[in-house]
Amino acid sequence: MQTVTVNASKQYDVLIGSGVRALLPEKISSLFGSVRVCLVSDDNVARLHLDEAETLLQNAGFNCSRFVFPHGEASKNPTVLFELLEHLADERFSRKDVLVALGGGVTGDLGGLAAALYMRGMHLVQIPTSLLAMVDSSVGGKTAVDLKAGKNLAGVFNQPDLVLCDPDYLSTLPPEDFSDGMAEVVKYGVIADEALFDTVKDGCIKDRLTQIITRCVTIKRDVVDEDEFDTGRRALLNFGHTLAHAIEAKSNFTVSHGKAVAIGMCRIAALAEQHGLCDAPCLKQIQNALTNNDLPTDTAFLNAELFDEVTKDKKCTGGSITLILPRRIGDCYARATPIDECKRMLS
Ligand code: GLY
Repeated sequence: MQTVTVNASKQYDVLIGSGVRALLPEKISSLFGSVRVCLVSDDNVARLHLDEAETLLQNAGFNCSRFVFPHGEASKNPTVLFELLEHLADERFSRKDVLVALGGGVTGDLGGLAAALYMRGMHLVQIPTSLLAMVDSSVGGKTAVDLKAGKNLAGVFNQPDLVLCDPDYLSTLPPEDFSDGMAEVVKYGVIADEALFDTVKDGCIKDRLTQIITRCVTIKRDVVDEDEFDTGRRALLNFGHTLAHAIEAKSNFTVSHGKAVAIGMCRIAALAEQHGLCDAPCLKQIQNALTNNDLPTDTAFLNAELFDEVTKDKKCTGGSITLILPRRIGDCYARATPIDECKRMLS
């Protein structure tokens, strides 16, 4: 088992390794004592994994309640959020109790926000079951639901008290969803670690999952420790994401987040090369790594079509857009780019 300790406004451990999910009862007991537990999952994850988690907790003497919602991004909305808050109130949870978000990114974001809001904050444990949630969304405290105007527009920073990353959960993950997570893994290689990039660039990484997840979480931890509230360096984690959000929106969310990130990374690496904004060409390497991990590298949407969506992004502020550009594999930088210049680059 690997332990990565996050030192943000709250200090907490991310435990990574096969079987760490079984530590849930003893960790809850040592962190919070004798508390009640609300398990939150979508219907897909509930069918596969909720009984096991609940039985573990009940066998250790914990009183549990479950809140299960329909899977998919469409559930990450204020209505489901308030249903969860009403559930916590109906079941008479207190702020000393713990909410366990067992699932992918939607569950972590929704559960994390509910834990922050309920009685101004109850304890939170994240148990990610998708690769994307393990390497990205379960760590770092970003929580949110979507509004009609866009994704993640209503949220808060709420660091969890514990994250349990068990790669065994990934054996039930559909291949499409595994690939989505690989887009974020490739991203970490491009922005911060050439050795990680080399480890994953040929695909077939299932025998090294603990090592790879640990490296990604460590990179994310280092960024979050330095810039928890996303006012500077944390923007680097958004490499490929500005165009990705536009691609997701333009496709009415038929292109998944991971696939949109893959395409967004290629488009931005191409721009960096075309405009002399990188030290070494890296587009071809990124494209090969993505292809080898069953990810797309392009879309029919033209850059100019994506531009309108880009300017709606909440990260587009003060007449400029922060573009995250690769210098070379393993190093990237943020460049505040005036909107007019960005439009010229994208046209
Ligand atoms: N997913 C990007 C971040 O946590 O900042």
